Amino acid sequence: MQGFIIFVLIFGFISPCLCTGLNVETKNNIFNVLQYGARGDGKSDDSQAFLSAWRRACKAVGMSTLVIPAGRSFMVTKLNFNGPCTAKILIQLEGEIIAPPKAAWKGGLIWISVEYVNGLTIDGILHGQGPTWWQCPTCNRPMMLFFHSCKSLNVRKLRIRNSPRSHTSITMCQDATFSNIAINSPVTSPNTDGFDIAHSSNILIEDSYIKSGDDCIALNGGSFFVNATGVTCGPGHGISVGSLGRNGANDQVSNIYVRNCTFIGTTNGARIKTFSGGSGYAKQITFEQIILVNVLNPIIIDQNYHIVPKETDVSVSDVTYRGFTGTSASDVAIALKCSPSGCFGLLFDQNNIVSTQPGKKTSSFCINAHGSARNTIPSVSCLK
Ligand SMILES: *[C@@H]1O[C@H](CO)[C@@H](O)[C@H](O)[C@H]1NC(C)=O
Ligand SMILES: *[C@@H]1O[C@H](CO)[C@@H](O)[C@H](O)[C@H]1NC(C)=O
Repeated sequence: MQGFIIFVLIFGFISPCLCTGLNVETKNNIFNVLQYGARGDGKSDDSQAFLSAWRRACKAVGMSTLVIPAGRSFMVTKLNFNGPCTAKILIQLEGEIIAPPKAAWKGGLIWISVEYVNGLTIDGILHGQGPTWWQCPTCNRPMMLFFHSCKSLNVRKLRIRNSPRSHTSITMCQDATFSNIAINSPVTSPNTDGFDIAHSSNILIEDSYIKSGDDCIALNGGSFFVNATGVTCGPGHGISVGSLGRNGANDQVSNIYVRNCTFIGTTNGARIKTFSGGSGYAKQITFEQIILVNVLNPIIIDQNYHIVPKETDVSVSDVTYRGFTGTSASDVAIALKCSPSGCFGLLFDQNNIVSTQPGKKTSSFCINAHGSARNTIPSVSCLK
């Protein structure tokens, strides 16, 4: 495994009084994990020290800062940053947090969780020791970061590497912004979704790079008002609404805006996937200003993800694809495989998707797809 690179980040947003250290009251609200017994030698388990520092930071009044200092690697086996907290907390992650290798894993499916916390800001580096897990896809591999029941979350400049499973999972959260996140796992790493979002609203992922072995961003049931802007995906499986309706589930997703995103060498660009037998909907979804570089399935709706002969389906409607430009690695750049009940209100506008191979033509494919297209290459004349 490559050596750890320690980035020292400059935090421009720490208030000036913290920087000058003149304000004693504010200074008391700084909790450095080293003062709570963390070693930062990359080997000792610093989980307890982190938790002690967290508890103090959580109970403080006003703003508090949990400092994980630069120049060290903190090995933690498991962390639960739980609220509710009286303070609004900044986790100032200047050093690096690394997971134990698989052999030293203490169980559980989550490495770091943040639950019932309002007004948290985090930035820094997390290293998941994924390579020790990936050879065992059937193991109970943990996800790296789990945000549950959070409000006003602000995560920025976080580098997340080599997760055993999903990198970041967000459930039951409201008003969360993730900016300048760099996720980096190889294309061969199994189930390493960049972001998994469910039962959450008003979520923004912006200006981020996501390299993974699975979905770049997966929008699961209960995702409402989720935006992704300025995200570059690849390698990986692209941005997916779904899978929805798995095992007969009622899943609802709406008001999704994916804008100014780039897909490089991904298996999908904009994907909506549902299982037959489920119910609910995926609607009011917009993908626009999308750049494609050698993407296998640039635009795909797949309602027969795993074919089970049942009657019900998650309905798909009001989906806009506007301003896609770039290259498709396969001939079928637009594949709309809708269920027998049909997809409705599909709108294609100002798209130009050509083949990666010069001289080859791209095409569209529809089953039960209703909508309209203008100024779109390939032509989507198969729409009803
Ligand atoms: C998402 O984008 C829409 C349309 O531009 C905007 O109205 C909404 O405020 C954005 N939401 C978030 C969470 O950024
Ligand atoms: C689009 O995203 C890129 C980052 O990928 C960013 O640099 C650029 O400013 C964005 N453009 C617009 C118009 O939002």
